[in-house]
Amino acid sequence: MLNNPYVEKVENHKKILIETEEIYSHQWKWNTYFKNTHPIHLEIGTGMWNFFWREVVANPDINYVWIELRYKRLFATAEKAMKGTWDNFIVIKDFGQNIDKIFQAWEVSTTHIHFPDPWWKKERQKKHRLLQSDFLKHLYDITKSWWNLIFKTDHREYFDSVIEILAQQWLWKNKIVSYDYEAELSHFDTKSITEFEAYYRRFKTKICYLEAEK
Ligand SMILES: C[S@@+](CC[C@H](N)C(=O)[O-])C[C@H]1O[C@@H](n2cnc3c(N)ncnc32)[C@H](O)[C@@H]1O
Repeated sequence: MLNNPYVEKVENHKKILIETEEIYSHQWKWNTYFKNTHPIHLEIGTGMWNFFWREVVANPDINYVWIELRYKRLFATAEKAMKGTWDNFIVIKDFGQNIDKIFQAWEVSTTHIHFPDPWWKKERQKKHRLLQSDFLKHLYDITKSWWNLIFKTDHREYFDSVIEILAQQWLWKNKIVSYDYEAELSHFDTKSITEFEAYYRRFKTKICYLEAEK
């Protein structure tokens, strides 16, 4: 991390948690942290936070938790969010794979995962993918009943692998499965898309969309 100017900015940022001991100490106590009992919405792999700002403005009664790994993106997300008057969010530097240490059972309402790295170039790289069997089981455990996982990707093979795992697990109920959600779903909205989705749309890439319910 030598020469990365964002390391220090992230380390000193009051809305970014980086120490795992502190992050995991909030497990089952996030409502105490936020000082209310509002539902928690989670986004993993937030990137530059282009998606959630409209949500945050529109929903002061929801607490937002964003998990990201990269320093510049963590900082950009926290800074953009802090420009508003709202305080209902926290940014966490950790691997999304650690959700079972960050949250207790039934602590999270909706989770968004938009364009996670597909790790597709070599077969052996697929082990780095976020959405795998254990992760999806842990995500199920921390999610409240009748709430959702929303997953978008341009990578059809990754998408199909997730659908296959869910079918094997018999846990989540697939409410919406679309291989081209712009064409198929009425709630597609260009104003609510992430940085990566905007990029792929320039090439007319079809975007896969999954909404699964606990
Ligand atoms: C392809 S980008 C998508 C960013 C954003 N969701 C979007 O759609 O514009 C994937 C993001 O996930 C983050 N990331 C990759 N692996 C992760 C992991 N294991 N846990 C949390 N974030 C991760 C990367 O740093 C990157 O910002």
